[in-house]
Amino acid sequence: MVGKVVQKGMDMGAAGIRFLLNDQQVDLADMPADAMLLDFLRETRRLTGTKEGCNEGDCGACTVLIGQLRDGQLHYAPMNACIRFLAQVDGCHVVTIEHLRGPGGALHPVQQAMLDHHGSQCGFCTPGIVMALYALWMVHPLPTSAQVKVALQGNLCRCTGYAPILRAAQDIAGDPAGDFLAAERTTIIQALQDMAQDAPAAGAALRPRDLDQALALRAAHPDAVVVAGATDVGLWVNKHLRPMPQVLHLSQIAGFDRITQTADAITIGAGASYAQAAPVLAAASVKWMLKRPLQWFTK
Ligand SMILES: Cc1cc2nc3c(=O)[nH]c(=O)nc-3n(C[C@H](O)[C@H](O)[C@H](O)COP(=O)(O)OP(=O)(O)OC[C@H]3O[C@@H](n4cnc5c(N)ncnc54)[C@H](O)[C@@H]3O)c2cc1C
Ligand code: FES
Ligand code: FES
Repeated sequence: MVGKVVQKGMDMGAAGIRFLLNDQQVDLADMPADAMLLDFLRETRRLTGTKEGCNEGDCGACTVLIGQLRDGQLHYAPMNACIRFLAQVDGCHVVTIEHLRGPGGALHPVQQAMLDHHGSQCGFCTPGIVMALYALWMVHPLPTSAQVKVALQGNLCRCTGYAPILRAAQDIAGDPAGDFLAAERTTIIQALQDMAQDAPAAGAALRPRDLDQALALRAAHPDAVVVAGATDVGLWVNKHLRPMPQVLHLSQIAGFDRITQTADAITIGAGASYAQAAPVLAAASVKWMLKRPLQWFTK
């Protein structure tokens, strides 16, 4: 499986989108600015294991893993493909439920636990729940009940009931270090590093790599819609059917998601996610904040 990752695609120029999808490299010529990852997975690649429920980031049926390089390390996070612009996964590793298939079609330990604990009835939510639990298991193979609940807070199940799913989450066999995603990691990191050498993308989906490029593109394309996480803008596309001829993505700006902490302040980059900020904010004690009320209200 890993060998396929190094397959190279066509030379697509600066407007294209390039990413790894499971064990394949995907090279796309310029795409419409409003192209969404879920539509690409289901309609173009026929990877229909990833489901479409609400199409607005609420239900988690469309959960995939997105692997990104941050300071040379590969980090995977569960994300909703329905409100993820295709251009936002440029330079990333996208992992869908199909990639969890083991040798000879064997179930992944996460899937096996769901089966053993009867965690699936109609099955519509199951791929999304498996991907969310897989992301948790990679970091916490023996999660607490609280960690499981946080990991599943973006995934709705209408028919099974959550008790079997929670039991499954705490009974996943195996060691994440021996998992195939861990085995692929060196190859994936190399492939993503190679992609990072590509020129910053132009066209309908502008993707600056640093702040200077972002400001220059903003000046040159004042009508382009600025997009950070797309949890709001994604709904303008899916629900309001709002035309979006050009988009300026901020998600590839180096350091834009950086969070720094000094004795006096926590500085959260405009591209940082809630998940990145939450542990930092939790660690900063209430006492620390209460000592400095003036700064909080004057900044
Ligand atoms: C399931 C779900 C639940 C939600 N729940 C809540 C909730 O409980 N409370 C809540 O407040 N919101 C909620 N939201 C809305 C949304 O998550 C928030 O508005 C979020 O803060 C948007 O951040 P984003 O990075 O995804 O912004 P985007 O969708 O990328 O952008 C939102 C707006 O900000 C602009 N923008 C983005 N980055 C910049 C920048 N650096 N400089 C200038 N403009 C910029 C964009 O052009 C756009 O106008 C929810 C959304 C979803 C899908
Ligand atoms: S389809 Fe419901 S969150 Fe994406
Ligand atoms: S198993 Fe039917 S919605 Fe979860």
